[in-house]
Amino acid sequence: MGLLLLGLLLLPCVSGLPFYNGFYYSNGRNPGNGHGQGLFNGVKLVVEMPEETLFTHRGANVTLPCHYHYEPALFTPRPVRIKWWKLSENGAPEQDVLVAIGLRHRSFGDYQGRVHLRQDKEGEVSLEIRDLRLEDYGRYRCEVIDGLEDESGLVELELRGVVFPYQPPQGRYQLNFHEAQQACEEQDAVVASFEQLFRAWEEGLDWCNAGWLQDASVQYPITLPRQPCGGLGLAPGVRSYGPRHRRLHRYDVFCFAAALKGQVYYLEHPEKLTLTEAREACREDGTQIAKVGQLFAAWKFHGLDHCNAGWLADGSARYPVAHPRPNCGSPEPGVRSFGFPDPQSRSYGVYCYRQR
Ligand SMILES: *[C@@H]1O[C@H](CO)[C@@H](O)[C@H](O)[C@H]1NC(C)=O
Repeated sequence: MGLLLLGLLLLPCVSGLPFYNGFYYSNGRNPGNGHGQGLFNGVKLVVEMPEETLFTHRGANVTLPCHYHYEPALFTPRPVRIKWWKLSENGAPEQDVLVAIGLRHRSFGDYQGRVHLRQDKEGEVSLEIRDLRLEDYGRYRCEVIDGLEDESGLVELELRGVVFPYQPPQGRYQLNFHEAQQACEEQDAVVASFEQLFRAWEEGLDWCNAGWLQDASVQYPITLPRQPCGGLGLAPGVRSYGPRHRRLHRYDVFCFAAALKGQVYYLEHPEKLTLTEAREACREDGTQIAKVGQLFAAWKFHGLDHCNAGWLADGSARYPVAHPRPNCGSPEPGVRSFGFPDPQSRSYGVYCYRQR
Protein backbone atom coordinates (compact mmCIF):
# COMPACT_ATOMS: atom_id res chain seq x y z
CA MET A 1 0.00 0.00 0.00
CA GLY A 2 2.93 2.33 0.31
CA LEU A 3 3.84 5.04 2.74
CA LEU A 4 0.81 7.20 2.22
CA LEU A 5 -1.62 4.74 3.72
CA LEU A 6 0.74 3.70 6.40
CA GLY A 7 0.92 7.34 7.43
CA LEU A 8 -2.83 7.55 7.49
CA LEU A 9 -3.20 4.46 9.58
CA LEU A 10 -0.91 5.96 12.15
CA LEU A 11 -2.79 9.23 12.19
CA PRO A 12 -5.58 8.25 14.59
CA CYS A 13 -3.10 7.31 17.28
CA VAL A 14 -1.06 10.45 16.76
CA SER A 15 -4.01 12.81 16.93
CA GLY A 16 -5.80 10.88 19.62
CA LEU A 17 -8.90 10.44 17.48
CA PRO A 18 -10.74 7.17 17.48
CA PHE A 19 -10.04 5.03 14.44
CA TYR A 20 -13.00 4.27 12.24
CA ASN A 21 -12.73 2.08 9.27
CA GLY A 22 -16.35 2.40 8.21
CA PHE A 23 -18.15 4.49 5.65
CA TYR A 24 -19.23 7.34 7.83
CA TYR A 25 -17.64 10.29 9.46
CA SER A 26 -18.27 9.81 13.10
CA ASN A 27 -15.61 11.37 15.22
CA GLY A 28 -18.28 13.03 17.30
CA ARG A 29 -16.72 16.46 17.42
CA ASN A 30 -19.32 19.22 17.00
CA PRO A 31 -20.89 17.90 13.86
CA GLY A 32 -21.91 20.66 11.49
CA ASN A 33 -20.98 23.38 13.88
CA GLY A 34 -18.68 26.16 12.77
CA HIS A 35 -16.90 26.68 9.49
CA GLY A 36 -17.05 24.76 6.31
CA GLN A 37 -18.10 21.19 6.26
CA GLY A 38 -16.05 19.76 9.09
CA LEU A 39 -16.56 16.10 9.74
CA PHE A 40 -20.27 15.37 9.84
CA ASN A 41 -22.02 12.45 11.23
CA GLY A 42 -23.63 10.54 8.46
CA VAL A 43 -21.78 12.08 5.54
CA LYS A 44 -20.78 9.42 3.15
CA LEU A 45 -17.94 9.47 0.67
CA VAL A 46 -18.88 7.68 -2.54
CA VAL A 47 -16.47 6.64 -5.29
CA GLU A 48 -17.92 5.80 -8.69
CA MET A 49 -16.22 3.85 -11.43
CA PRO A 50 -17.40 2.19 -14.63
CA GLU A 51 -18.53 -1.37 -14.18
CA GLU A 52 -17.55 -2.68 -17.54
CA THR A 53 -14.03 -3.55 -18.60
CA LEU A 54 -12.31 -0.93 -20.76
CA PHE A 55 -10.85 -2.31 -23.94
CA THR A 56 -8.11 -0.47 -25.72
CA HIS A 57 -5.04 -1.10 -27.80
CA ARG A 58 -1.32 -0.75 -27.43
CA GLY A 59 0.09 2.73 -27.96
CA ALA A 60 -3.29 4.32 -27.27
CA ASN A 61 -4.06 6.97 -24.67
CA VAL A 62 -6.74 5.83 -22.28
CA THR A 63 -8.65 7.44 -19.43
CA LEU A 64 -9.72 5.28 -16.50
CA PRO A 65 -12.72 7.15 -15.13
CA CYS A 66 -13.11 7.75 -11.41
CA HIS A 67 -15.45 10.22 -9.72
CA TYR A 68 -16.31 10.85 -6.11
CA HIS A 69 -18.95 12.83 -4.25
CA TYR A 70 -20.40 13.17 -0.80
CA GLU A 71 -23.87 12.14 0.27
CA PRO A 72 -25.45 14.39 1.21
CA ALA A 73 -23.59 16.90 -0.97
CA LEU A 74 -21.16 19.29 0.68
CA PHE A 75 -21.12 23.00 -0.06
CA THR A 76 -17.41 23.49 0.23
CA PRO A 77 -14.91 21.17 -1.39
CA ARG A 78 -12.76 19.26 1.05
CA PRO A 79 -9.11 18.47 0.46
CA VAL A 80 -8.62 14.86 -0.46
CA ARG A 81 -5.76 12.63 -1.33
CA ILE A 82 -5.98 10.44 -4.39
CA LYS A 83 -4.12 7.25 -4.92
CA TRP A 84 -4.16 5.11 -8.03
CA TRP A 85 -2.54 1.72 -7.97
CA LYS A 86 -2.50 -1.43 -10.00
CA LEU A 87 -3.49 -4.63 -8.28
CA SER A 88 -1.18 -7.56 -8.15
CA GLU A 89 -1.92 -10.05 -10.84
CA ASN A 90 -0.45 -13.39 -11.69
CA GLY A 91 2.11 -13.17 -8.95
CA ALA A 92 3.39 -9.74 -10.03
CA PRO A 93 3.64 -7.28 -7.14
CA GLU A 94 1.10 -4.51 -6.84
CA GLN A 95 2.30 -1.21 -8.23
CA ASP A 96 1.81 2.37 -7.17
CA VAL A 97 0.79 4.42 -10.18
CA LEU A 98 0.08 7.93 -8.96
CA VAL A 99 -0.67 9.85 -5.77
CA ALA A 100 -2.04 13.37 -5.66
CA ILE A 101 -2.39 15.72 -2.73
CA GLY A 102 -3.96 18.98 -3.77
CA LEU A 103 -2.14 20.09 -6.89
CA ARG A 104 0.91 18.00 -6.19
CA HIS A 105 1.16 14.75 -8.12
CA ARG A 106 3.66 12.02 -8.08
CA SER A 107 3.86 9.03 -10.38
CA PHE A 108 5.91 5.90 -9.99
CA GLY A 109 8.09 3.44 -11.87
CA ASP A 110 7.18 2.77 -15.48
CA TYR A 111 4.25 5.14 -15.19
CA GLN A 112 6.41 8.21 -14.71
CA GLY A 113 5.83 10.69 -17.48
CA ARG A 114 2.94 8.65 -18.88
CA VAL A 115 0.17 9.27 -16.36
CA HIS A 116 -1.83 12.31 -15.52
CA LEU A 117 -4.74 12.98 -13.20
CA ARG A 118 -7.75 14.37 -15.04
CA GLN A 119 -9.82 16.74 -12.94
CA ASP A 120 -12.02 18.37 -15.58
CA LYS A 121 -15.17 18.21 -13.49
CA GLU A 122 -15.83 18.55 -9.81
CA GLY A 123 -15.09 15.27 -8.14
CA GLU A 124 -13.31 13.86 -11.16
CA VAL A 125 -10.03 12.10 -10.43
CA SER A 126 -9.66 10.00 -13.57
CA LEU A 127 -6.34 8.53 -14.53
CA GLU A 128 -5.03 9.15 -18.02
CA ILE A 129 -2.37 6.73 -19.23
CA ARG A 130 -0.55 7.56 -22.42
CA ASP A 131 1.21 5.30 -24.84
CA LEU A 132 -0.19 2.08 -23.36
CA ARG A 133 2.20 -0.82 -23.02
CA LEU A 134 1.55 -4.51 -23.10
CA GLU A 135 2.19 -4.76 -19.36
CA ASP A 136 -0.42 -2.11 -18.54
CA TYR A 137 -3.43 -4.38 -18.71
CA GLY A 138 -4.97 -5.39 -15.39
CA ARG A 139 -7.07 -4.00 -12.58
CA TYR A 140 -6.56 -0.50 -11.23
CA ARG A 141 -7.84 0.86 -7.95
CA CYS A 142 -8.81 4.50 -7.49
CA GLU A 143 -8.70 5.44 -3.84
CA VAL A 144 -10.04 8.68 -2.39
CA ILE A 145 -8.86 9.55 1.10
CA ASP A 146 -10.52 12.28 3.12
CA GLY A 147 -9.13 12.48 6.61
CA LEU A 148 -9.83 9.12 8.13
CA GLU A 149 -12.21 8.09 5.40
CA ASP A 150 -11.02 5.99 2.59
CA GLU A 151 -13.15 4.78 -0.27
CA SER A 152 -12.11 3.13 -3.49
CA GLY A 153 -13.28 1.49 -6.67
CA LEU A 154 -11.85 -0.83 -9.27
CA VAL A 155 -11.63 -0.67 -13.03
CA GLU A 156 -10.28 -3.27 -15.36
CA LEU A 157 -8.22 -2.38 -18.39
CA GLU A 158 -7.75 -4.87 -21.17
CA LEU A 159 -5.70 -4.57 -24.27
CA ARG A 160 -7.13 -5.97 -27.45
CA GLY A 161 -4.84 -8.76 -28.45
CA VAL A 162 -4.45 -12.26 -29.72
CA VAL A 163 -3.07 -15.36 -28.00
CA PHE A 164 -0.86 -17.72 -29.96
CA PRO A 165 1.08 -20.83 -28.99
CA TYR A 166 4.81 -20.63 -29.61
CA GLN A 167 7.49 -23.26 -30.08
CA PRO A 168 11.12 -22.32 -30.75
CA PRO A 169 13.15 -23.75 -33.65
CA GLN A 170 14.53 -26.48 -31.35
CA GLY A 171 11.06 -28.02 -31.19
CA ARG A 172 8.47 -29.02 -28.63
CA TYR A 173 8.85 -28.49 -24.87
CA GLN A 174 12.20 -26.71 -24.91
CA LEU A 175 11.49 -23.56 -22.89
CA ASN A 176 11.75 -22.98 -19.18
CA PHE A 177 9.70 -20.07 -17.85
CA HIS A 178 12.43 -17.46 -18.29
CA GLU A 179 13.17 -18.57 -21.82
CA ALA A 180 9.45 -18.56 -22.54
CA GLN A 181 9.26 -14.91 -21.49
CA GLN A 182 12.13 -14.10 -23.76
CA ALA A 183 10.66 -16.06 -26.66
CA CYS A 184 7.42 -14.05 -26.48
CA GLU A 185 9.32 -10.78 -26.21
CA GLU A 186 11.26 -11.64 -29.33
CA GLN A 187 7.92 -12.04 -31.14
CA ASP A 188 6.82 -8.57 -29.96
CA ALA A 189 4.50 -10.17 -27.41
CA VAL A 190 4.32 -11.10 -23.73
CA VAL A 191 3.48 -14.37 -21.99
CA ALA A 192 -0.33 -14.63 -21.93
CA SER A 193 -2.29 -14.51 -18.69
CA PHE A 194 -4.80 -17.20 -17.79
CA GLU A 195 -7.67 -14.78 -18.53
CA GLN A 196 -6.27 -14.13 -21.99
CA LEU A 197 -5.87 -17.84 -22.72
CA PHE A 198 -9.34 -18.52 -21.38
CA ARG A 199 -10.87 -15.90 -23.66
CA ALA A 200 -8.94 -17.33 -26.61
CA TRP A 201 -10.32 -20.77 -25.73
CA GLU A 202 -13.85 -19.33 -25.65
CA GLU A 203 -13.18 -18.00 -29.14
CA GLY A 204 -12.13 -21.45 -30.29
CA LEU A 205 -8.41 -21.86 -29.63
CA ASP A 206 -7.56 -25.56 -29.49
CA TRP A 207 -3.96 -26.59 -28.90
CA CYS A 208 -2.63 -29.93 -27.85
CA ASN A 209 0.73 -28.78 -26.46
CA ALA A 210 1.02 -27.38 -22.98
CA GLY A 211 2.46 -23.90 -22.59
CA TRP A 212 3.58 -21.50 -19.90
CA LEU A 213 1.31 -18.71 -18.72
CA GLN A 214 2.18 -15.48 -16.93
CA ASP A 215 1.66 -17.01 -13.46
CA ALA A 216 4.16 -19.77 -14.26
CA SER A 217 1.43 -22.37 -14.51
CA VAL A 218 1.32 -24.64 -17.53
CA GLN A 219 -1.97 -25.17 -19.35
CA TYR A 220 -3.52 -25.94 -22.72
CA PRO A 221 -6.88 -25.12 -24.32
CA ILE A 222 -9.03 -27.90 -25.77
CA THR A 223 -12.30 -27.30 -27.57
CA LEU A 224 -12.56 -30.77 -29.15
CA PRO A 225 -11.62 -33.52 -26.66
CA ARG A 226 -9.64 -36.26 -28.41
CA GLN A 227 -7.38 -39.18 -27.64
CA PRO A 228 -3.88 -37.70 -27.77
CA CYS A 229 -4.90 -34.54 -25.93
CA GLY A 230 -5.89 -35.77 -22.50
CA GLY A 231 -8.44 -38.23 -23.85
CA LEU A 232 -12.14 -38.20 -24.64
CA GLY A 233 -13.26 -38.51 -21.04
CA LEU A 234 -12.42 -34.91 -20.16
CA ALA A 235 -14.75 -32.04 -20.97
CA PRO A 236 -13.56 -29.25 -23.24
CA GLY A 237 -11.73 -26.57 -21.31
CA VAL A 238 -8.42 -25.07 -20.39
CA ARG A 239 -6.50 -27.93 -18.84
CA SER A 240 -3.88 -27.21 -16.25
CA TYR A 241 -0.70 -28.94 -15.13
CA GLY A 242 -0.63 -26.42 -12.30
CA PRO A 243 2.39 -24.35 -11.31
CA ARG A 244 5.70 -25.67 -12.63
CA HIS A 245 9.29 -25.02 -11.71
CA ARG A 246 10.35 -21.83 -13.53
CA ARG A 247 13.85 -23.01 -14.26
CA LEU A 248 13.73 -26.80 -14.37
CA HIS A 249 10.55 -27.56 -16.29
CA ARG A 250 10.27 -27.10 -20.02
CA TYR A 251 7.20 -26.54 -22.17
CA ASP A 252 5.92 -24.39 -25.04
CA VAL A 253 4.46 -20.98 -24.28
CA PHE A 254 1.31 -19.02 -24.98
CA CYS A 255 2.13 -15.49 -26.05
CA PHE A 256 -0.14 -12.47 -26.19
CA ALA A 257 0.32 -9.90 -28.95
CA ALA A 258 -1.61 -6.65 -28.82
CA ALA A 259 -3.21 -4.87 -31.73
CA LEU A 260 -0.64 -2.91 -33.70
CA LYS A 261 -0.24 0.64 -34.80
CA GLY A 262 2.04 -0.40 -37.63
CA GLN A 263 1.32 -2.49 -40.69
CA VAL A 264 2.34 -6.00 -41.75
CA TYR A 265 2.43 -6.72 -45.48
CA TYR A 266 3.54 -9.42 -47.88
CA LEU A 267 6.40 -8.03 -49.89
CA GLU A 268 5.87 -8.21 -53.63
CA HIS A 269 9.11 -9.63 -54.92
CA PRO A 270 9.95 -11.32 -58.24
CA GLU A 271 11.63 -14.40 -56.68
CA LYS A 272 11.40 -16.56 -53.64
CA LEU A 273 14.02 -15.81 -51.01
CA THR A 274 16.37 -17.35 -48.48
CA LEU A 275 15.94 -16.13 -44.89
CA THR A 276 18.92 -13.75 -45.22
CA GLU A 277 17.63 -12.38 -48.52
CA ALA A 278 14.20 -11.95 -46.93
CA ARG A 279 15.58 -9.77 -44.13
CA GLU A 280 17.50 -7.74 -46.69
CA ALA A 281 14.45 -7.33 -48.96
CA CYS A 282 12.38 -5.75 -46.14
CA ARG A 283 15.29 -3.49 -45.25
CA GLU A 284 15.53 -2.34 -48.87
CA ASP A 285 11.82 -1.56 -48.68
CA GLY A 286 12.52 0.68 -45.68
CA THR A 287 10.93 -1.73 -43.16
CA GLN A 288 11.80 -4.80 -41.12
CA ILE A 289 11.02 -8.47 -41.39
CA ALA A 290 7.85 -9.07 -39.33
CA LYS A 291 7.77 -10.92 -36.02
CA VAL A 292 5.35 -13.75 -35.26
CA GLY A 293 3.29 -11.65 -32.83
CA GLN A 294 2.99 -8.90 -35.42
CA LEU A 295 1.71 -11.34 -38.03
CA PHE A 296 -0.91 -12.73 -35.61
CA ALA A 297 -2.04 -9.22 -34.63
CA ALA A 298 -2.30 -8.14 -38.28
CA TRP A 299 -4.30 -11.25 -39.08
CA LYS A 300 -6.64 -10.79 -36.14
CA PHE A 301 -7.15 -7.03 -36.17
CA HIS A 302 -6.44 -5.94 -39.74
CA GLY A 303 -7.78 -9.02 -41.50
CA LEU A 304 -4.42 -9.71 -43.18
CA ASP A 305 -5.05 -12.47 -45.68
CA HIS A 306 -2.44 -13.93 -47.99
CA CYS A 307 -2.10 -17.38 -49.40
CA ASN A 308 1.68 -17.23 -49.79
CA ALA A 309 3.98 -18.39 -47.04
CA GLY A 310 6.63 -15.90 -46.03
CA TRP A 311 9.66 -15.78 -43.77
CA LEU A 312 9.41 -14.18 -40.36
CA ALA A 313 12.10 -12.80 -38.07
CA ASP A 314 12.42 -15.99 -35.98
CA GLY A 315 13.15 -18.06 -39.09
CA SER A 316 9.69 -19.62 -39.31
CA ALA A 317 7.54 -19.45 -42.44
CA ARG A 318 3.82 -18.73 -42.13
CA TYR A 319 0.84 -17.19 -43.83
CA PRO A 320 -2.32 -15.55 -42.48
CA VAL A 321 -5.78 -16.51 -43.70
CA ALA A 322 -8.70 -14.37 -42.60
CA HIS A 323 -11.11 -15.70 -45.27
CA PRO A 324 -10.62 -19.44 -45.80
CA ARG A 325 -10.95 -20.61 -49.40
CA PRO A 326 -10.01 -23.65 -51.50
CA ASN A 327 -6.29 -24.20 -52.07
CA CYS A 328 -5.40 -22.01 -49.14
CA GLY A 329 -4.96 -24.38 -46.23
CA SER A 330 -7.52 -25.58 -43.70
CA PRO A 331 -11.13 -24.37 -43.72
CA GLU A 332 -10.65 -22.37 -40.51
CA PRO A 333 -9.26 -18.85 -40.40
CA GLY A 334 -5.82 -18.78 -38.82
CA VAL A 335 -2.11 -18.31 -39.24
CA ARG A 336 -0.67 -21.41 -40.93
CA SER A 337 2.83 -22.48 -40.10
CA PHE A 338 5.48 -24.31 -42.08
CA GLY A 339 7.65 -24.58 -39.00
CA PHE A 340 11.28 -23.56 -39.33
CA PRO A 341 12.45 -24.48 -42.85
CA ASP A 342 16.08 -24.64 -43.93
CA PRO A 343 17.12 -20.97 -43.96
CA GLN A 344 18.95 -21.50 -47.26
CA SER A 345 15.90 -22.79 -49.10
CA ARG A 346 14.45 -20.40 -51.66
CA SER A 347 10.85 -21.47 -51.14
CA TYR A 348 9.19 -18.51 -49.50
CA GLY A 349 8.40 -14.85 -49.77
CA VAL A 350 8.55 -12.52 -46.78
CA TYR A 351 6.26 -10.56 -44.46
CA CYS A 352 7.57 -7.13 -43.49
CA TYR A 353 6.52 -4.73 -40.74
CA ARG A 354 6.21 -1.02 -41.26
CA GLN A 355 6.16 1.03 -38.08
CA ARG A 356 3.79 3.95 -37.95
C1 LIG B 1 -1.55 10.68 -26.71
O1 LIG B 1 -1.37 11.91 -26.09
C2 LIG B 1 -0.16 12.59 -26.45
C3 LIG B 1 -0.01 13.82 -25.58
O2 LIG B 1 -1.23 14.42 -25.35
C4 LIG B 1 -0.21 12.89 -27.94
O3 LIG B 1 0.97 13.54 -28.33
C5 LIG B 1 -0.37 11.59 -28.69
O4 LIG B 1 -0.49 11.84 -30.08
C6 LIG B 1 -1.59 10.82 -28.22
N1 LIG B 1 -1.58 9.51 -28.83
C7 LIG B 1 -2.64 8.99 -29.42
C8 LIG B 1 -2.48 7.63 -30.00
O5 LIG B 1 -3.71 9.57 -29.49
